[in-house]
Amino acid sequence: MITPQFDSAKIESLGIDPTQIPKHIAVVMDGNGRWAQERGLKRTEGHMRGEDALFECIEGALELGIGWVTVYAFSTENWRRPKEEVKFIVNFNRDTLRRRRDELHARNVRIRSIGRRNWRMPRGLLRVIDESVEQTRDNDRMTFTIAFNYGGRAELVDAVKALVAAGVPADKIDEKAISAHMYAPDMPDPDLIIRTSGENRISNFLVWQAAYSEFLFLDSLWPDFDRTSVYDAVREFQARSRRFGGL
Ligand code: FPP
Repeated sequence: MITPQFDSAKIESLGIDPTQIPKHIAVVMDGNGRWAQERGLKRTEGHMRGEDALFECIEGALELGIGWVTVYAFSTENWRRPKEEVKFIVNFNRDTLRRRRDELHARNVRIRSIGRRNWRMPRGLLRVIDESVEQTRDNDRMTFTIAFNYGGRAELVDAVKALVAAGVPADKIDEKAISAHMYAPDMPDPDLIIRTSGENRISNFLVWQAAYSEFLFLDSLWPDFDRTSVYDAVREFQARSRRFGGL
């Protein structure tokens, strides 16, 4: 049986307009550490609960027919955290992906990643990412992009370096040329960027691509996010009017 891409009647029953679904949502999964600390648990427990929230988020997005989901898993600035936590997050991302990539593949999800590959990137994680990307390359229900060792400014620096290295003359550098040298040039700009945990900042996430994104800052902590949070976010998105600088 072919899995239906999405069920319009079900989407409508959730109070969501199936014709106005955001094409791409990007998420800053913040507040795992605080979630754990509030409960007297180790910060690492919060990250582990964050995995459940992430897969709930993906499930909700699949139900609504959202074609692109991008998550901020580790920033170029996160290396400043205590060594033990950095080590945990790196291994946790690697192990989560290794454990769950078959499940994503079975759901027809294409896995990709953005971020600096040639600076500090642990080889084991890179290998699991590359294997997952290869395994799922032909899937077409959703593209799930993991931003690891990612920084929006670093991405712009890398794009400029690539343009210079390609010998592109100054008068040929325009927005299209810069977009074409981003880590994932075919990725549509995010329509909606969600950040949990009450922090109202972008923190170097998709700075170029976020020019016209809607932002949704939630007070709840990432481990408490679930598929109903995706429905709520899309309802909020649909209630806003986007004019892209026009009238
Ligand atoms: C931020 O919480 C969260 C992270 C640094 C990591 C989130 C990663 C996952 C949930 C899993 C990712 C797995 C894959 C395969 C993409 P925080 O530590 O900043 O929390 P705090 O602000 O309360 O300290």
